[in-house]
Amino acid sequence: MAVDPLIELRDVNKHYGALHVLQDINLTVGRGEVVVIIGPSGSGKSTLCRTINRLETIESGTILLDGKPLPDEGKELAALRADVGMVFQAFNLFAHKTVLDNVSLAQVKVRKRKKDEADERARELLDRVGLADQAPKYPAQLSGGQQQRVAIARALAMNPKALLFDEPTSALDPEMINEVLEVMRQLAADGMTMVVVTHEMGFARSAANRVVFMADGRIVEDRTPEEFFTAPESERARDFLSKILKH
Ligand SMILES: Nc1ncnc2c1ncn2[C@@H]1O[C@H](COP(=O)(O)OP(=O)(O)O)[C@@H](O)[C@H]1O
Ligand SMILES: [Mg+2]
Repeated sequence: MAVDPLIELRDVNKHYGALHVLQDINLTVGRGEVVVIIGPSGSGKSTLCRTINRLETIESGTILLDGKPLPDEGKELAALRADVGMVFQAFNLFAHKTVLDNVSLAQVKVRKRKKDEADERARELLDRVGLADQAPKYPAQLSGGQQQRVAIARALAMNPKALLFDEPTSALDPEMINEVLEVMRQLAADGMTMVVVTHEMGFARSAANRVVFMADGRIVEDRTPEEFFTAPESERARDFLSKILKH
């Protein structure tokens, strides 16, 4: 793939007290690229994701989006959060708003769209994630897989430049995992730039351009899925894969 960097992390470091949670992180995500981040629990995957839309600050280094450093505060920070959407393990939908409103509200608040325009876009996106008929319901009336698809539609509604996914299927019952991964595969095929923390190795193999393996706050490997899964270079990655693939 031609390198047209959308997200760039250069020499990024962060501590939580004595814990050096991100150590000299260098990572470039090209426009349209899908990068899957894997690694043991506690290795810093969530923290890394959260720095990219500035839910976490960094102590040193630089993060660029589209060639520009991430903004610190104010309107520009709100715009950044819209430009870099995030989908979490917990769906974080507004419980007292309908599915339609969950997808249209931020469009009105942040993107300043008119309510009927926002609703129309919300309906299009709900259709795209297979939930056209769920628009008037409340989140609690939906299955976990459906709620996560609403969360994806909500992120897409902002016309993001990139989407970050932090273990989006980890809270789901097994039979619902595929419906969410299928939506993500479609997004990837449509050219969305995506950073995905996941333990779904099938998704990593089939949808990722690169696999980044993290351990103890460092990027240990950054390679194509084919290379990574067939011939991991590090002992840490071999050990991790042998554990996860045994399940
Ligand atoms: N807000 C926080 N304050 C202190 N320590 C934290 C905080 N968030 C995460 N950590 C610690 O940082 C390490 C990395 O966490 P995390 O990025 O969530 O890893 P992962 O997503 O790979 O499991 C863990 O040891 C975790 O306990
Ligand atoms: Mg995590």
